[in-house]
Amino acid sequence: MNGENPAVRAAVAIGLTVLGIAALILLLGDAAYMWIKAVHVVAIISWMAGMLYLPRLFVYHCDAKPGSELSETLKVMERRLLRVIINPAMGLAWVLGLWLAWRGGYLMAGWFHAKLALVILLSGFHGYLSAALRRFAEDANQVPARRWRLLNEVPALLMIGIVVLVIVKPF
Ligand code: HEM
Repeated sequence: MNGENPAVRAAVAIGLTVLGIAALILLLGDAAYMWIKAVHVVAIISWMAGMLYLPRLFVYHCDAKPGSELSETLKVMERRLLRVIINPAMGLAWVLGLWLAWRGGYLMAGWFHAKLALVILLSGFHGYLSAALRRFAEDANQVPARRWRLLNEVPALLMIGIVVLVIVKPF
């Protein structure tokens, strides 16, 4: 089914976002920048909430017996968290963030390049979590719970760096 195809869903989501941005610019003119920044921050809060919660679910999943009710429930929770919250929020954050950078004239700013580097690392970690989720779904995870607890700190540390860069703009 088309609705189940992730590529089609991503294309529809990006198309709707572009239409939404165009509508806001037409309706609000220059004020659109602040509204789009507000939606960017909401998208980031959703993305980060998911990125901080998913490794925590993996910690519980490590302790659940494969095939048990808990293990199967965690698989559903992890899959829904990724598909319904994390993936769309990341796509929205990227599209709106790049538009803000272009419209705000930040594309050549040092702080923006540094922020972009950290956001690319964050997106790479997102890919790592998606791959781990597929292994958990096949009961094939090899990473111990202790390591997931440590990995849980990666998005938190990246988030601190990104927020300081975009708000303080130190260079
Ligand atoms: C996905 C790629 C991203 C791009 C291209 C991007 C780009 C931008 C740009 C250009 C602005 C406007 C800055 C201004 O008007 O002063 C902005 C605002 C903001 N971004 Fe991002 N961003 C991205 C992801 C993130 C992430 C992952 C976080 C947090 C973890 C974040 C947090 C913020 C915050 C808090 C603001 C508001 C800053 C303010 O108004 O002072 N962004 N972003």
